[in-house]
Amino acid sequence: MNPNQVLIFDTTLRDGEQSPGISLNTEEKLEIAQQLARLGVDVIEAGFPIASPGDFEAVREIARQVEGPIIAGLARANATDIDRAWEAVKDSDRPRIHTFVSTSEIHIEHQMRSSHDDVRGLARAAVAQAKALCDDVEFSPMDATRADVGFTAEICQIAIDEGATTINIPDTVGYTMPEEYTRFLEGLYAAAPGLKDVILSTHCHDDLGLAVANSFAGVLAGARQVECAINGIGERAGNAALEEFVMLLNTRAADLGGLYTDVNTKELSRASRLVSRLTGYAVQPNKAIVGRNAFAHESGIHQDGVLKERTTFEIMDATSVGLDANSIVLGKHSGRHALQQSLDELGYKVDGAALNAAFKRFKEVADKKKQVTALDLEALVGDELQQETGFSLESFELTDKSGEQPRASAKVTMPDGTSCEGEATGDGAVDAVFHAINAATGIDVKLRDFRVDAVTAGQDALGEVHVMIERDGEAASGRAVATDIIEAAARAYIRALTLATRRLDADDPTSERPSAVP
Ligand code: KIV
Ligand code: ZN
Repeated sequence: MNPNQVLIFDTTLRDGEQSPGISLNTEEKLEIAQQLARLGVDVIEAGFPIASPGDFEAVREIARQVEGPIIAGLARANATDIDRAWEAVKDSDRPRIHTFVSTSEIHIEHQMRSSHDDVRGLARAAVAQAKALCDDVEFSPMDATRADVGFTAEICQIAIDEGATTINIPDTVGYTMPEEYTRFLEGLYAAAPGLKDVILSTHCHDDLGLAVANSFAGVLAGARQVECAINGIGERAGNAALEEFVMLLNTRAADLGGLYTDVNTKELSRASRLVSRLTGYAVQPNKAIVGRNAFAHESGIHQDGVLKERTTFEIMDATSVGLDANSIVLGKHSGRHALQQSLDELGYKVDGAALNAAFKRFKEVADKKKQVTALDLEALVGDELQQETGFSLESFELTDKSGEQPRASAKVTMPDGTSCEGEATGDGAVDAVFHAINAATGIDVKLRDFRVDAVTAGQDALGEVHVMIERDGEAASGRAVATDIIEAAARAYIRALTLATRRLDADDPTSERPSAVP
């Protein structure tokens, strides 16, 4: 490996997916993993296989189907977790087991209720077991930045002696500061001589807004792998944002002595939109690199300067992060071929029945919107590609909009193919339609979250609706796009219902996450 290359370890599908309210199914995880491969990340941490049968299946499918990056599965330092992680990743051409145990006093005493000796034993046994299964083993001393540097170094050396090839130093609670993290890593290098022969990695959380700065400090101290997530999603305030770290190295390359990543930055924008759409986590408009306004200039002085010479107020070129894809525009007279070509440019290979379905949706939207942009196309195709084998919405109608409590009716095809109708009132049109769906299906669910986003700017923008529902304690989310918000809401609700029902089925059980998930 080139000593200047910084490996990008993406944990969107593991740490990112642990964010509250995110619940991706296997197809969605696969779609994100394929985009991460296109983006050129070095490692995809695909999940935590022991967490649930669903997590296991998703990691296994990613290992089987996604080519290019190393596919890692997370495991606590115990035999069952490690076996399960191996089962999930072993079909990848490049499998990795990532195992961890805490080294901080706080965790050892209060979370693990254990001892230093136990931690030594757990680390040794876990890495030895993982190594017997898989050549590529990563070890993390969890909560390292709040731990004693000497003890953490001792545990890292044990892991290296047992065959770990990457040592990752997590700032689990996002507490450290750049200089402190540098000193900590320097201390580890001094006390664990084996560290210079393996890849040192950073894993920084953003609780104090320092995740990218700390990761960068780690790289300057010698780390050559950075763990990060698209849009910075992850536990609590999230992880270091992949796009920010990558563009930092890319933009300041001249001042960084040749440090680089292998990421294809032109895919950043698309990766960000995909993750945002599938997770339901909106990207704030002013988010660095991928926010809607990241390259927009509002003040007259800035606009004037950029028109004269882009670099007056821009340090990066929008095309370098893939924002030029937004220039793809189709109109209502565009044909099937033009649609297929535009989808191809956006990276979607769509033909046959899928193309017909996409074309039908495109025509419906193009009839209502003057221009259909790349963002609209992505949203429409993403919507069309969602699997629907459960409930489906045949029709709905607002039968009385006059009073404070509008009335709606809905007709739903049930999973067994029968058709059911229901009618109900609600606090507003959307609520009435949701209640009508409940009446039709005979299923009562709680609405936990409801959000509407415009796919693009403008009055005729497509509306994208995310709903999260709870059925018998099982949370599930659904999303849908349409020019009509109520239609999008009804379809998103039906999808969430399908997912919640699938989860309650014996075939697709989702067990409790283990309590010590980081
Ligand atoms: O934050 C953390 O400590 C983790 C580890 C499992 C790497 O996510
Ligand atoms: Zn983490």
